[in-house]
Amino acid sequence: MSTFFPKWTNSLPTALAGGGACAAAVVIGGVWYYFTPKYFDVGYMPTQPGGGFNHQIHAGQLGMDCRYCHTKVEQSAEANIPNVSTCYGCHAESKLKAYADSKPHQEKTAFIREAWKDDKSVEWRRVHKVPDYVRNFPHNAHLNAGLSCYSCHGNIARMPVVWQNQPLSMSWCLDCHRAPEQNLVPKDKVTSVFWVENQMSPANAAAQAVEGKKLYEQRKLAAPENCGACHY
Ligand code: HEC
Ligand code: HEC
Ligand code: HEC
Ligand code: HEC
Ligand code: HEC
Repeated sequence: MSTFFPKWTNSLPTALAGGGACAAAVVIGGVWYYFTPKYFDVGYMPTQPGGGFNHQIHAGQLGMDCRYCHTKVEQSAEANIPNVSTCYGCHAESKLKAYADSKPHQEKTAFIREAWKDDKSVEWRRVHKVPDYVRNFPHNAHLNAGLSCYSCHGNIARMPVVWQNQPLSMSWCLDCHRAPEQNLVPKDKVTSVFWVENQMSPANAAAQAVEGKKLYEQRKLAAPENCGACHY
């Protein structure tokens, strides 16, 4: 039965011990705090350090594949954030002329060269996060099932600054687990976010319904709905 009570509930008895008259308020406050991760809601868009990182330029205009930087996203649970050396590969002093030798460009990308020189990492601020009482979300399982980054993150290649496009709530996970067909795409298209955006558009709804159903029948998918699959 322990899986019905995620680890964080351990702190509730302490909150309750807080005392008679206050108890109700403490519980309401606690529920509010734990159940509404408002810092990680749809639309959440933190300011990133330095000149930031612009997906619209790199993944959109320059057409870089997501896996150029998020290299392990198909192999591991976590989608890794690239380190400075990946950026420095294009933004070193020696490369400035080849790309955009303008003053604003030099200034916007200076933080990369500084971090590289000091052997430091860039402190990117996390955008998407499920609460700690949810087991690590496995990217590899979802990508291998044929789900695109687009279904869960929106069209990142249109975002100058990344923002949260989906609620990441429990019902959001379960809605798709119960009926994943409409989100399934050919596996070689999972990172082709413009292709998927077009495929998922209302104009293509009928075609995607047929295609998704076909893919679902081919792949023997079993998206879990039992609590233990997602909670400790
Ligand atoms: C040139 C490297 C690069 C490429 C290519 C790239 N990304 Fe990123 N991505 C980053 C960096 C750096 C961050 C962290 C900074 C930020 O959040 O803006 C990031 C952040 C993200 C985040 C938010 C992470 C969080 O904190 O929750 C998502 C989602 C994401 N990328 C998806 C994608 C997708 C989808 C593609 C392909 C369409 C892609 N990225 C292509 C470098 C890249
Ligand atoms: C494959 C080469 C390549 C890689 C890798 C790359 N960039 Fe860029 N980046 C470019 C090019 C080209 C431009 C200039 C686009 C323009 O201004 O037309 C650019 C522009 C920028 C700018 C200026 C954006 C603006 O608003 O003008 C920033 C900041 C930047 N990159 C950060 C990063 C960071 C951080 C990383 C690593 C996560 C990274 N880049 C990785 C090629 C790259
Ligand atoms: C089925 C939904 C789903 C798909 C498909 C998906 N993601 Fe995610 N992504 C998430 C969730 C949920 C999180 C938050 C995970 C957590 O908190 O552990 C996340 C987090 C991330 C992060 C932040 C990781 C970190 O440690 O900061 C990056 C980067 C990312 N995703 C990139 C991608 C890329 C690139 C793709 C496509 C190749 C992709 N995601 C496909 C749901 C998805
Ligand atoms: C867009 C659809 C979609 C969304 C959204 C989604 N999932 Fe899934 N998930 C799937 C499918 C399809 C599978 C089945 C994969 C298989 O059978 O290989 C799956 C499988 C899983 C598995 C089992 C992985 C394994 O190794 O078998 C876990 C755990 C999981 N999802 C957690 C989550 C969590 C947590 C969320 C929400 C934060 C979420 N999923 C959101 C479609 C989705
Ligand atoms: C597919 C993954 C998945 C499954 C299966 C799942 N949960 Fe969750 N659950 C989540 C996620 C993700 C959250 C975090 C929601 C948020 O951040 O708003 C969550 C949140 C919760 C919460 C906190 C309150 C809330 O609704 O936000 C409770 C309690 C909970 N789950 C219990 C359960 C129980 C009991 C089951 C089995 C009947 C279950 N969960 C099955 C993914 C799952």
